[in-house]
Amino acid sequence: MLKVGRGAAAPPFIVMDVIAAANAQAAAAPPGAPHVIRMEVGQPGTGAPVGAVEAAMAALRSGEALGYTEAFGRRSLRARIAAHYRDWYGLHLPLERVAVTVGASGAFPLAFLAAFDPGDRIALVSPYYPPYVNILTALGMSPVLMEAGPETRFQPAVAMLKRLDPPPDGLIVASPCNPAGTMLHPDELAAIARWCDAAGVRLISDEIYHGLHYDSPIATAAAVSNSAVVINSFSKYFSMTGWRVGWMVLPEDLVRPVECLAQNMFISAPHISQIAAEAAFDCVDELEANRACYRRSRDHLLRALPEAGFTRLSPAEGAFYLFADIADRSNDSAGFCARMLVETGVAATPGLDFDAARGARFVRFSYCGPEADMREAAARLARWR
Ligand SMILES: Cc1ncc(COP(=O)(O)O)c(C=O)c1O
Repeated sequence: MLKVGRGAAAPPFIVMDVIAAANAQAAAAPPGAPHVIRMEVGQPGTGAPVGAVEAAMAALRSGEALGYTEAFGRRSLRARIAAHYRDWYGLHLPLERVAVTVGASGAFPLAFLAAFDPGDRIALVSPYYPPYVNILTALGMSPVLMEAGPETRFQPAVAMLKRLDPPPDGLIVASPCNPAGTMLHPDELAAIARWCDAAGVRLISDEIYHGLHYDSPIATAAAVSNSAVVINSFSKYFSMTGWRVGWMVLPEDLVRPVECLAQNMFISAPHISQIAAEAAFDCVDELEANRACYRRSRDHLLRALPEAGFTRLSPAEGAFYLFADIADRSNDSAGFCARMLVETGVAATPGLDFDAARGARFVRFSYCGPEADMREAAARLARWR
């Protein structure tokens, strides 16, 4: 029998099955039937900002070769990202610490391989964004799950970390997070970063939903730790998922190791996407309009979903997700979501992807679709309860 590697055991991403079911239902709907409302997808329904598209079109028309860039990306984009840290966080970063990547997804293996060895233990809270665990496992690293709930807004806390014996080699945090949409507030992130530095634990901070925060201010781990790896992307706030471009802010000791890995693994992020991404920084009005739309949808759903029988919602302060504890209605979130899709035409994701132990009693609603759809979804669910 031929050998297969540990990566071949990576589990499926269950949301993809829900997306397929919603697509099938939408395709089979007779003319005039209520449309399927997509609350299962985690990507903005809006396209790239107009200025980004125009910059890409101009580059295509110019006849520029658009070959590989340096592994860490175009220097002009790296400089623009460094300026973004000055503008948003008051932080002065040398562009040498900025690496452009193939989305945040491309940054994960680079960060994990540069910072950890097979067998190392990397802590994170559950519920979590599934690829963290699946990539770590495929690389032979051991995720150490810390169960979190509404008491800590589904986020880690120093007290939880202190209970880990032995201490882990690394910690992954995400704020705002997927699936709960909750945040680590600046003082909480700073306390975690201090604990990591004191305990010799490498902090990886996924900041992909920065910009999509509605109440509390955001903080970057780069401002409170010299050893943290920060991961970010143009996929969410900048509305450029399919362009596959993101970035990392690296600590000094990992700059060259990550550069060598990136040269070997990816060569570079797509050149055309880097040009578009640089222009996206100038599209503030459009991006802020998207954000305002998400905020209105969130505010409406936080009021309307409890009236529709989803009474236990995560205290969502960011991203575009609400995580609902449906234990009072079902202990089978997959069956519940399947029935909800058929009977109301509202697609949402069962919590199983995000928390193998408790996911059967959670549902994730994503509210990045059109505002009118989000209102209509709440109305349909209220009639269904
Ligand atoms: C928390 C989190 N990190 C990373 C990603 C991947 O993003 P990218 O499109 O930049 O690869 C996602 C996508 O949904 C996400 O939710």
